[in-house]
Amino acid sequence: MSIDSFTMSPLPAILFGAGKAQMLPQTLADYGRLVLLLVGERSLQTNPVWPKLQESMEDLGLEVHIEKITGEPSPKLVDAIVEDYRQHDVAVVAAIGGGAVLDGGKAIAAMLTMEGSIIEYLEGVGSREPAGTKVPFVAVPTTAGTGSELTCNSVISAVSREGFKKSLRHENFMPDAAIIDPVLTANCPDKVSAFCSMDGFSQLVEAYLSSKATPMTDDLALGAISRLGRLNGPLTRICQGKADLADRTAMSYGAAISGICLANAGLGIIHGFASVLGGLFPIPHGAVCATLLAVCNRVTLTKLQKEQSDSVALQKYARLGRIFSNREKASDRFYQESFIEMLIELTELVQPAPLSSYGITFSDLETIAVQSGCKNNPIELDVGERKEILKELL
Ligand SMILES: [Fe+2]
Repeated sequence: MSIDSFTMSPLPAILFGAGKAQMLPQTLADYGRLVLLLVGERSLQTNPVWPKLQESMEDLGLEVHIEKITGEPSPKLVDAIVEDYRQHDVAVVAAIGGGAVLDGGKAIAAMLTMEGSIIEYLEGVGSREPAGTKVPFVAVPTTAGTGSELTCNSVISAVSREGFKKSLRHENFMPDAAIIDPVLTANCPDKVSAFCSMDGFSQLVEAYLSSKATPMTDDLALGAISRLGRLNGPLTRICQGKADLADRTAMSYGAAISGICLANAGLGIIHGFASVLGGLFPIPHGAVCATLLAVCNRVTLTKLQKEQSDSVALQKYARLGRIFSNREKASDRFYQESFIEMLIELTELVQPAPLSSYGITFSDLETIAVQSGCKNNPIELDVGERKEILKELL
């Protein structure tokens, strides 16, 4: 089989595995003394690894300033923290938390070297191009889903009915180091872990099916999906709230790979909807991915079967189905359908709330459908088709 040409963005140093969080103090010390550390709402101080990290940072003589990122990072929050630290000689920014904290930290590390407000640099909002400079940034995820530790964009939210969710993006905004320790995800509540896993899993599937997929992102995505999948594998156990450390390790790996894949292959219709829904309504990103996952794939597959029977994406759907099926030598059509059935079962385990529970009404659907795009979905779904999906999930 021939291999098409592709390009791949550079990756940070990746320290992966149980116990790797202990490498954080020395990693930070390598950059200098003054550390700006971003943490989430749920205090890092309750995490069992924190006392030891704190002791090691003190032993190394680090001056650590801690700031909280509560909820998804807004332009106002990023600007306020940047304003406080612009005159300091921050040697390194680190973020320990979920995707929102990592995105906030990534944006702050960049904005510390740039003038003006972050809003001026956001895609589709501002008119200034980021120069690509930043303070060194270390990402330490405590959830397994967004893959932000290995992406070069930071999602910034201003949630309201006139709101947005847009990216600050530059190839240079990739973290300098990603310390991925699955032990840190252990005190994440089961429901949050399940929603995060649906986000990471969806990113792998969307990037694999993407019209911009490359041989390298395909291999990475398929490898990570295989580790998560199989029948009754880690993904299912996370969605059931029965995950052990091995399952969490597989999901942390899958999430990280999903970041690499989305940064290089793009995403599809689920994230096309998610960014718009997340900007207009207070709906957590993982929850919206869980809500959309099965139905968006079913509609995409059905249209491909009807209109593009020779599509590569159909072969890919069959390949995904094979990973999750215990039946051998069935037809491609069987595996394509069985993949959708598996997604429906997964959704039933996670039980995401309907869109109406976030304040979305029938009269909002047209606006959401118009504003949403299909990104790099393997087949375009028009506004009418997008509205039908939303109607089904209301
Ligand atoms: Fe996502």
